[in-house]
Amino acid sequence: MKVTIDGPAGSGKSTVAKEVSRRLGFPYLNTGLLYRAFAYMCMSEGLKGEEVLKVFEKPIKVRLDIATTEVFYGGEEIGQKLGSEEVGSIASQIATLPAFRERINQFFRALVGEMQAVIEGRDAGTHIFPDAELKIFLTASAEERARRRWEQLRLEGIEVDYQEILRAILERDERDKNRPIYPFKPAEDAVLIDTTQMGIGEVVEKVLELIKERVLNGGLK
Ligand code: DC
Repeated sequence: MKVTIDGPAGSGKSTVAKEVSRRLGFPYLNTGLLYRAFAYMCMSEGLKGEEVLKVFEKPIKVRLDIATTEVFYGGEEIGQKLGSEEVGSIASQIATLPAFRERINQFFRALVGEMQAVIEGRDAGTHIFPDAELKIFLTASAEERARRRWEQLRLEGIEVDYQEILRAILERDERDKNRPIYPFKPAEDAVLIDTTQMGIGEVVEKVLELIKERVLNGGLK
């Protein structure tokens, strides 16, 4: 069984996907982290424009486990290097290239194969695993997503202006939504959950309930 959890930045998808992975005991694939990893590699290798496709020839190792996706590049686990706004912005830019998306989607499918998994992303349910047995799409207002990001950064000791975060979120949303191919939208058969007024625990319980329902309704592997 594959469960896809899609949604915009700040919708709670990472926290929810990791907890669902723990509760089910399924490996977790964070596709956004891989977009960031390839963006980081393009930056390190100086690949720009059409050249970015060459990044798929570089050696990279990915390890999927319960609630973790680890990326090894140049003999080093690079997860810690991928969280910056700069890497996120490059990732969002290369994500607009159709050929890049085709390649990275093949990479994801080869990585997961026939495994049971929880897959977190933007288009996991629409383009990466359109046959997934359960597709979740999380939403939240832009203001609430900015507030969550602001709080997260504050907890990490980073003081940033709320309005600036909100602006960055709206800008990223626009780019992700308006790209000519693969515009960012829920799969037709996805279950939409608005998390603006919900705690993470509540969202996780709701997802687990949906999984139970689907299993009871039969036929799930
Ligand atoms: O989830 P994230 O913010 O770490 O993702 C970084 C960027 O990668 C995001 O701006 C959009 C892109 N992305 C994508 O286009 N499709 C995915 N499945 C995951 C990420």
